[in-house]
Amino acid sequence: MPSYIRVKLKPKEEDRLLAGHPWVFANEVEKAPKTLSAGTLVEVVTAKGLEVGRGVANPTSKILIRLLTRDFDQEIDEAFIAGRVLKALGYRKEFGQKNDTDGVRLLFGEGDGLPGIIADAFGETVVLSCFSAGLKPFIPTISKTFREKGYRHVYEKSVGEVCQKEGMPEFQGWLTEPGTLPMSFTEGKAKFQASPDRGHKTGFYLDFREARRWVRDLSQGKTLLDAFCYTGASSIQAALGGAVEVTALDSSQTALDEGAQNARVNGVENKIHFEKGDSFKVLKDLKKNGRKFGGILLDPPPLAKSAHDLPEARNALKRLLGQSLDLLSFGGFLVVGTCSHHFSWTLLEGVTREAVEESGRSFRILQRLTQPQDHPIVMSIPETEYLRVLVLTEIN
Ligand SMILES: C[S@@+](CC[C@H](N)C(=O)[O-])C[C@H]1O[C@@H](n2cnc3c(N)ncnc32)[C@H](O)[C@@H]1O
Repeated sequence: MPSYIRVKLKPKEEDRLLAGHPWVFANEVEKAPKTLSAGTLVEVVTAKGLEVGRGVANPTSKILIRLLTRDFDQEIDEAFIAGRVLKALGYRKEFGQKNDTDGVRLLFGEGDGLPGIIADAFGETVVLSCFSAGLKPFIPTISKTFREKGYRHVYEKSVGEVCQKEGMPEFQGWLTEPGTLPMSFTEGKAKFQASPDRGHKTGFYLDFREARRWVRDLSQGKTLLDAFCYTGASSIQAALGGAVEVTALDSSQTALDEGAQNARVNGVENKIHFEKGDSFKVLKDLKKNGRKFGGILLDPPPLAKSAHDLPEARNALKRLLGQSLDLLSFGGFLVVGTCSHHFSWTLLEGVTREAVEESGRSFRILQRLTQPQDHPIVMSIPETEYLRVLVLTEIN
């Protein structure tokens, strides 16, 4: 049976945790026991000794402890972690049909009670990422559970700055018999390929699925500008939805090459022009050249990684929105997304309203979108909400 080191909170540090948030920051505990190392199992109590929860520690991270359960009788062992994976899979079954895709986020970290663990399925292959040194020892259990539930291959991609922050070695490779790279899957009528080995994150932005659906439905007979296209998923949906022509921009040549391949697979390569460039500059050039588009999609990378970046992020988005409105034909549509928890609805709507008002034009909000249900937002963990998208059409 595992043993747990007891960690005491400083006085009055328990409210957020008792309300359901799983992160215990290093500055919230009385002197952390010296015996804590990455993955040490701990039980957290208030300054008065009341039970808060059990979790895993990592003394090299600012988040010293990630709570996994509130139950002091619950052992944190392989069966417990496998149980969490099964619950996550069960939850996704409830709405699986609705999404019409076999590209599904199976584990969304805190949103599924497994802080720091991400897993995306592309067809019969799962791409798994671990960003918590504390949960790293359970990766084989998680992988085995996916295999037992019928996924044939599991690929791990745990790389990037966050690994250094967690004091964790980077790792990328197959955990099972190798599958094929890139991984093929479908989203509605579109066929996509994801390349975790070469691409961003797990290889694909599954979180933008619903926004892509709106882009597809609004694109009939229009020319589209997809200003941060990555591997062209929205551009392809637009082309399949009847767009006459799509200009797809991105700063990454690798992503554009994959986009061109994705377009060929869908038979829409003649409709999409992929172009490498910095969209902040290219949008200006397009205006100089007198170009106009019937629809514009702005899905930039996270402009604010922390609250500190917000003023600059707001300015950058305002610039992009202003440039886009200059390029948008009368009666067109504009889709604008931000993928940072810090960039609130108030901020996104505020900056968009400002840009629209300055253009002297009038738009209606067709839809406010957030991430789909396979990226669950937990009310007591505000950080689980990070994607916000406005779908606007001009009133004509
Ligand atoms: C959030 S992703 C877009 C995902 C896309 N909407 C999808 O559904 O696949 C942001 C993209 O912006 C690209 N990017 C970052 N900075 C850029 C810039 N200055 N100009 C053009 N593209 C940029 C990145 O390479 C990345 O592919």
